[in-house]
Amino acid sequence: MKSYWCLPLLALALLAGCSKDKEMDKILEISSPGGDLQLQFTLTEEGEPVYWARYKDTAILDTSALGFELVDAPSLRAGFEMTDYSTRALNDVWEMPWGEQREVSNNYNELTVEVREIPPPNRRMRLIFRIYDDGFGFRYEFPEQEGLETLEIAEERTEFQLTGNHTAWWIPGDWDIYEHLYNETSVSGIDALSKRDHPNLAQTAIPVNAVNTPVTMRTASGLHLSFHEAALTDYAGMTLMVDNDTYKLTSNLVGSERTPYKVKRKLPFHTPWRTVQVSPDAAGLIESNLIANLNEPNQLGDVEWFKPTKYVGIWWEMHLGKSSWDMASGKHGATTENAKRYIDFAAENNIGAVLVEGWNTGWEHWIGFEDREGVFDFVTPYEDYDLEEVVRYANEKGVEMIMHHETSAAPRTYEQQLDTAYALMQRLGIHSVKTGYVGKIIPAGEYHHGQWMVNHYRKVLETAAEYEVAVNAHEPIKATGIRRTFPNAISREGLRGQEFNAWSVEGGNPPDHLPTVAFTRMLAGPIDFTPGIFNMKLAPYKEESQINTTLAHQLALYVVIYSPVQMAADLPEHYEDHPAFEFIREVGVDWEQSKVLNGEVGDYVTIARQERGTDRWFLGSITDEQERSLEASLDFLPAGANYKATIYRDGEGAHWDENPSAFLIESFLVDRSTTLKLDLAPGGGTAVTLEPATAEDEERLQTYR
Ligand code: NOJ
Ligand code: CA
Repeated sequence: MKSYWCLPLLALALLAGCSKDKEMDKILEISSPGGDLQLQFTLTEEGEPVYWARYKDTAILDTSALGFELVDAPSLRAGFEMTDYSTRALNDVWEMPWGEQREVSNNYNELTVEVREIPPPNRRMRLIFRIYDDGFGFRYEFPEQEGLETLEIAEERTEFQLTGNHTAWWIPGDWDIYEHLYNETSVSGIDALSKRDHPNLAQTAIPVNAVNTPVTMRTASGLHLSFHEAALTDYAGMTLMVDNDTYKLTSNLVGSERTPYKVKRKLPFHTPWRTVQVSPDAAGLIESNLIANLNEPNQLGDVEWFKPTKYVGIWWEMHLGKSSWDMASGKHGATTENAKRYIDFAAENNIGAVLVEGWNTGWEHWIGFEDREGVFDFVTPYEDYDLEEVVRYANEKGVEMIMHHETSAAPRTYEQQLDTAYALMQRLGIHSVKTGYVGKIIPAGEYHHGQWMVNHYRKVLETAAEYEVAVNAHEPIKATGIRRTFPNAISREGLRGQEFNAWSVEGGNPPDHLPTVAFTRMLAGPIDFTPGIFNMKLAPYKEESQINTTLAHQLALYVVIYSPVQMAADLPEHYEDHPAFEFIREVGVDWEQSKVLNGEVGDYVTIARQERGTDRWFLGSITDEQERSLEASLDFLPAGANYKATIYRDGEGAHWDENPSAFLIESFLVDRSTTLKLDLAPGGGTAVTLEPATAEDEERLQTYR
């Protein structure tokens, strides 16, 4: 395809003609509010909608086509004429009810283009482009029109024509799960099909050489790009097919074996936003709010009933094999007595909530069974678990319970019981649930990320909201910023979590896993990674497995990997009397503001966050297998205030494999002129608590040098 870069760039201009490319009729252009990003749109002489984009003087996308293949109808890819266009701008601020920051600036320029097929049936569509300083999004809209009631989309053909063989951090375009390790290759080296045989996935389907989103890239000139989608509603999830030779990405929607279409919608409707985050450095990607901004405002109003919290739970012990979900094994974890032990531990340690998995009947018939429909119900406890008594006890201790619903990927069974299940929770005063979808979806032929399941996940969220329940989904559909609209979408898995370290699979998550996740998966939204393992070698339970980070790295994750629910995942007995546990006791879970101090994708990252409603700050820094010395300026602290910094860092000889537990705790006086030197061991990290110094601190502590 031709390249259309030939014009001086003007903001929001309609340009007629172009000296080099006579075949073009009109080029529409839109710029970001700050002017660094520009996007242009035109129809080719075949009437094909195309766009391209640049950042400052660098082309970031070359001519890229837009369109659809339909079932039993001519495609919507060419033969269009432009009938109208309009522009609009918005600059406002909205508030996150909980989040990485309180206030979010939403500042964009928007271009709407209307196109109509020249030959009959003269179908019409609109393309909406929104350009921000940190990236852009666009979507297709199908207005109500005569003779076109429903669209059956066989494939969306949205292209992103990259301008070079960038370095990419990617997971395969799996239609059923995101629990893959990130790969770092050039675009020409992306080989998703080689990831098909995976030893430990209860479901996986990788039909073509595509990647899942967010997929993050670095160009030769050091620009960072990340491709994703926002506001995924009543549509299939999008993967991006990769052409290794031309460096073109093309949308490949998640399909279904049960229907000839991948998406079916009645008009009028619009697609999710296709998004590109753009930043001169890696840190800027994490600070970008593009994905949340492209979602509709809060529809639930006040969600005061959900409070960000740390939690512990009857969970890791099952993954270690110390206990089990089912009762038949004779080592059932979810007993009344065990739950009370966790509740006591939470109450004593500033941990707000307790999760109990394996509390309801049905687990004897879980993984490996085909006929899972009707197996689980979400109201019947095992006989050794007195649900009412556990809840009463938790109330008495001021601890919230977190409900657990493992659907075993039988969503119809779950949907039939949603009201009953949530009514029980409401009666018991339980305001959050962790859901799970392990296994191939029943009905057979549906995939976790297809339109049918996207609608299921949304139905769960909406029903839960009616009962004042917040949802933390595992094996979810990816986050696309829906939390802005439905703030009861608190967190989700949707990545390779801590649990992979307990299973002896491919040696667990390597040390560069989370320094990669922070710049990829985390751009989509909050992550229930479940950090905080202290017993790094997993003895005596799983001596063949281990955690591939240092202990200080585990602490730093509470700040680096954002979630409004943060698990202290290890067994209470591994925390008792451990001095490093003080950090988990103290660390915040809800933030006034967040600052990414430094980072490179897959290598390291340092983030500082101010706790909401207090003047405390927390800082977390993690590295991959490389040891590093980083600097962190504390210039975000308020002027004129002395702070006490409690630093939890890698100790002498610390190493993710050879010596993961070596750590040190030090305290100093600091202020906004201080620059901390962070010495991170291989696979290591540093976690810092910053609180206003008391008179006693000022007397007792040394000033940091
Ligand atoms: C998979 C989830 O990711 C994990 O956290 C949970 O323990 C199991 N499913 C059981 O529901
Ligand atoms: Ca999982």
